[in-house]
Order: sequence, then structure tokens, then C-alpha cells
Amino acid sequence: MSAKNNFRNRTTQRQPAAWRGWLLFGAAVVATFALGVLAASILQRREEAKASLPLQPIAEYETDNSKWAVNWPRQYDSYRAGEESSSETKFGGAYPRDLLAETPANVILFAGYGFAKEYRQARGHLHAVEDVVNTARVGPTTVATCWTCKSPDVVRLMADMGPAEFYKQTFDSLKGEVTHPVGCLDCHDPKTMVLKITRPALVEALERQGRDLKNISHQEMRSLVCAQCHVEYYFKGEGNYLTFPWDDGTGIEAMAKYYDEPNFSDWTHAISGAPMVKMQHPDYEVYTKGIHAFRNVACADCHMPYKTEGGSKFTDHHVRSPLLNIANSCAVCHRWDEEEIRSRVESIQSGVREGRDRAEETIAKAHFDIAAAKQAGANDEQLKEARRLVREAQLRWDYVAANNGMGFHAPQECLRILAAAVEMAGQCRVECARILARNGVTEPIAYPDFSTKEKAQALMRAFVDGNPPKLVP
Ligand code: HEC
Ligand code: HEC
Ligand code: HEC
Ligand code: HEC
Repeated sequence: MSAKNNFRNRTTQRQPAAWRGWLLFGAAVVATFALGVLAASILQRREEAKASLPLQPIAEYETDNSKWAVNWPRQYDSYRAGEESSSETKFGGAYPRDLLAETPANVILFAGYGFAKEYRQARGHLHAVEDVVNTARVGPTTVATCWTCKSPDVVRLMADMGPAEFYKQTFDSLKGEVTHPVGCLDCHDPKTMVLKITRPALVEALERQGRDLKNISHQEMRSLVCAQCHVEYYFKGEGNYLTFPWDDGTGIEAMAKYYDEPNFSDWTHAISGAPMVKMQHPDYEVYTKGIHAFRNVACADCHMPYKTEGGSKFTDHHVRSPLLNIANSCAVCHRWDEEEIRSRVESIQSGVREGRDRAEETIAKAHFDIAAAKQAGANDEQLKEARRLVREAQLRWDYVAANNGMGFHAPQECLRILAAAVEMAGQCRVECARILARNGVTEPIAYPDFSTKEKAQALMRAFVDGNPPKLVP
């Protein structure tokens, strides 16, 4: 060891100039090159940033998306491509798939609630206003809070009257005011074009979690702009104040606890009488549990990838299923061929779909089991635990079912939750079997036929009208 060191010392002493000179020269070359690259990249970024600044000023509350096109024709044209509504993928796409016809058990699960009347897969941002106006779920008692995630006009109205006042209006009273579908002003500051959170509910939810909004990274903003709307939410109190149930976290257990503590419920189930919670579309929450969020891949990376046109690179504003654009959405990171990527996604989704189907079937039966126990003579007090269990099971199933993407955003998490849902519905059914036995019913109950949407809806109406079929022998 020491001999070696001595040798090295000696050589350096003997030839200092050549050794150091070449090293210095090499370092200088590398440094110059690196600086060049950095300068080029800064210039390019500056060019990109400049390209984003408006040449023609845009009004502070410009809600007409077409008015933004003068400055950003490429982004606007790609946004307009979202007019389409017939692009089906195996489980998604911008296509108004009838979810109740596809899975009639859903009618049973939502019995007594608007979603049992009509439940369609979402199309795209450009259809947001049209679709909410036309759904059978909207009626004279619908509140303005339902407009919140549909239009940039909401940003203007909230600036005018304040969010609390906005939520207090009726849906109908703002029909003439809210006309433009989800657009530029929802995600951008028109002066600088930086990404902006425009919806108070998200700001408030993050603040209640103790997040400092000044410390949000640019990459996180590329998901948070979506989290303004693609989340679970509810209307709090008399004023229907839009609120995210995130105080204890965004996982299903935390949200269930949030709803359970004040005994919150959206409706009373028409078949079982259980106090139910409807999950909306916890896309952001589910995404945060997946591998891509873990590796800092944002919603926009997959749903708004870069696109090149006439030599310029810009963000594709046709927000859609990435499976319709695999080359730009996935293949930039995954060097698998397109068919391989698609089949990987579909096999993940098929697994989640299978888990969902099993949960759905068991939960539907649990609702009938409770109704049967009631027909056999059980009172509300005796049914309390069974009703609690079916509520908890369905809330979990719905967290997975209502989230878009058929579980792709976090497959393990979705299957974990479905397993819990199946187990809770099973416990509910055991509890009902015990109650039925105590009331002298040991024969299997007669489950009615709900194999089509029409049969399921007729069945639901019979329960709502107070003349349900006889379930106990
Ligand atoms: C790693 C890529 C990736 C990321 C990140 C990602 N998604 Fe997705 N998303 C997908 C894929 C794949 C689908 C399934 C599309 C299909 O079935 O056609 C999907 C489906 C969807 C759908 C339903 C689209 C349809 O046509 O059915 C919505 C809505 C959605 N994602 C929103 C989000 C939001 C919001 C975020 C961020 C919180 C996000 N996604 C993050 C890949 C991604
Ligand atoms: C202001 C609210 C709002 C914001 C912000 C928003 N969305 Fe949406 N999104 C909606 C609504 C509403 C729909 C359903 C539209 C319909 O069919 O009625 C939707 C539909 C979608 C769909 C389905 C479209 C299809 O072709 O299948 C995808 C995918 C999607 N959004 C992704 C995103 C992503 C990614 C972001 C963030 C970059 C985002 N959204 C931001 C409200 C919003
Ligand atoms: C759902 C949210 C959302 C909507 C709606 C939206 N954008 Fe964007 N926009 C983004 C995201 C995300 C980026 C990428 C920003 C980044 O990473 O810096 C972006 C980037 C841009 C940029 C910067 C240059 C580029 O292409 O990356 C411009 C300009 C732009 N958008 C214009 C528009 C216009 C015009 C509209 C309305 C027609 C619009 N945007 C609607 C989310 C949105
Ligand atoms: C910005 C880069 C990026 C993009 C875009 C991206 N991914 Fe990924 N993906 C990752 C990373 C990082 C991982 C984690 C595994 C790894 O490090 O290789 C991953 C993991 C995966 C996995 C394995 C998940 C598991 O643990 O089983 C699948 C499947 C996958 N991605 C599909 C997709 C699909 C489909 C798309 C397009 C809709 C997509 N990815 C887009 C970066 C990306």
C-alpha cells in the first residue's frame, strides 16, 4: 500500500505540467460544453415562455374559449378536437356509454337516487355544459353547486358574487350565465398563461391539510389543475358549500371516517333503507396511490402530452383517453410497442372490472337481504348494523367504480378496496341470515330478477312506491 502511494507521489512530482494541463483542458472543454447546453436550454425555455405570453391581451375573465385562439391557435385547435364523442376504447373513451344498461346491478345499488335513473360515461370537456343540462339527474331542486366543474363562466361568477353566494343559487337561475364548456380560464391565468387553481374548494381542502400553496411545484400543478374537478366532493350544509372530504387524507378509509363521524348521507336506500354515500369521481385521489404518482408522472403527462406541428412543440389540449394516443402519451417513457402497451392496460383494467362485478353482485344481494329481514319482521334497531355494513361496502365499491380509467391509475389499491367491499357486504349478509333465522326464516330468499336495466328500474320503482315483491318464502 505505502509503496504504491510513494510511487504515485513520485510520478506526480516528476511530470506535473503534462498531467495537470490535460486535466485542466479536459475540464474546461466539459464545462464550456455544459454551459452551452444550459444556455441553449434557457434560451429555448425563454422562447417557450415568450410564446405563451399573449400578443393580444385577453380580458381578466374571458370565458369564451374561442377568444383565446388569436394568441394560441395550436392549443385552441387541439382543444376543439375534443368535440368528438364516438371514440370508444375497451373500458373508456369519449363516448356516452350507458353504464346502467351495461351493468344493471348499478340500478339496484343506486335505488332511490338519481344515478339509478341515468348514468352515462363522461364524454369530453367540450360537452360538459351540454351533458349536465341534458341529464335526467338534474331537476328543479338542483343547486348551482353542480355547475362548479363545468365551465369557466363559474370563475367569473364566483369573482362577481363570491363562492358562498354562488353555491346558494339554484341550477336553473344560472342557466343563461353558464354557457361555455370547461376551458382556458379554468386552468390558466390569462395575463401570464401560468397554470392556476381557480376553484376555491381545492385551495380550501389543501389549506385545511396544512399545505403551503406557495410551495407547490410546477410538476404538481400539472395534476392539481385537474384535481379542481376530478375528485370526490360533497355539498356541505344549508348553503351547499362545495367541500372535499380530505381533512384526514385522500385514502378511502380517511374519507369514510370523514363521512361517518357526522353520520353524513346523500340518500336513503330504497330497498335496504341504509343511509348511503355516493362517491363522485375520485380520479385524483386514486391516482395518488399509484406507481405513476409515486414516480412524479402527472395527469397532463398522459392526458395532455406534447405534440409537434410545423416544427413547434406544444401541449396537446385534446384531453382524452391516452389509449387513443399511445405513441405520445406512453411510448415517450415506455419503449414497448403500442399493442403491448394497450394489452397491458386492458389486462389491468379487466382484472379490476372482474373485482368490481363481484363486489356489485354481493352488495346488490345484501340490499335485498336487509329488505327480506325487514319483511320477516326485523325493526330499524335490529337492522342498524347490517345497514352500516352495506353502506361501508358500497362506499368502497363506489370509490373504485366512480373513479375513471377502470382502476388503471392505481390497480393494487383498487383491488385492495374491492376486497374490503366484498368482505363487508359478506358480513352484512351473514348478519341478515342471523336476523332472518331469528324470525323463523331459514329458506333462501327469492332474489328478484335485475338482469336488465328495465327490469332493475321496474323493481326499484316497486320498492319506492311501497309495493315491493315478496322476498321471504
Ligand atoms: C400514466 C398515465 C396516466 C396518468 C398519470 C393519469 N392517467 Fe388518467 N388514464 C390513463 C389511462 C391509460 C386511462 C384509461 C383509458 C381508457 O380506458 O380508455 C385513463 C383514464 C382516465 C379517465 C377516463 C377517460 C376515458 O376515456 O375513459 C379520466 C377522466 C382520467 N384518466 C383522469 C386522470 C386524472 C385527473 C389524472 C391525474 C389525477 C390522471 N388521469 C392521470 C392514464 C393516465
Ligand atoms: C373545470 C373542471 C374540470 C377540470 C379543471 C378538468 N376536467 Fe376533465 N372533465 C370535466 C368534466 C365535467 C368532464 C365530463 C364532461 C362530459 O362528458 O360531460 C370531464 C371529462 C374528462 C375526461 C373524459 C374525456 C374523454 O374523452 O373520455 C378526461 C380524460 C379528463 N376530463 C381529464 C382531465 C385532465 C387530465 C384534467 C387536467 C389536465 C382535467 N380533466 C381537468 C371537468 C374538468
Ligand atoms: C384542464 C386544464 C387546461 C385547460 C382547460 C387549458 N389548458 Fe392550456 N395548459 C394546460 C397544461 C397542464 C399545460 C402545460 C403547462 C406546463 O407544463 O407548463 C398547458 C399549456 C398551455 C400553454 C403553454 C404552451 C404549451 O403548449 O405548453 C398555452 C399557450 C395554453 N396552454 C393555452 C391554452 C388555451 C388557449 C386554452 C383554451 C382553449 C387552454 N390552454 C386550456 C392545462 C389546460
Ligand atoms: C413520464 C414518464 C411516464 C409516462 C408518460 C408513462 N409512464 Fe408508465 N411508468 C413510468 C414509471 C417511472 C413507472 C415505474 C416503473 C419504472 O420505473 O419503470 C411506470 C410504470 C408503469 C407500469 C407498471 C406498473 C406496475 O407497477 O405494474 C405500467 C403498466 C405503465 N407504466 C403503463 C403506462 C401507460 C399505459 C402509459 C400511458 C398512458 C404510461 N405508463 C405513461 C413512467 C411513465
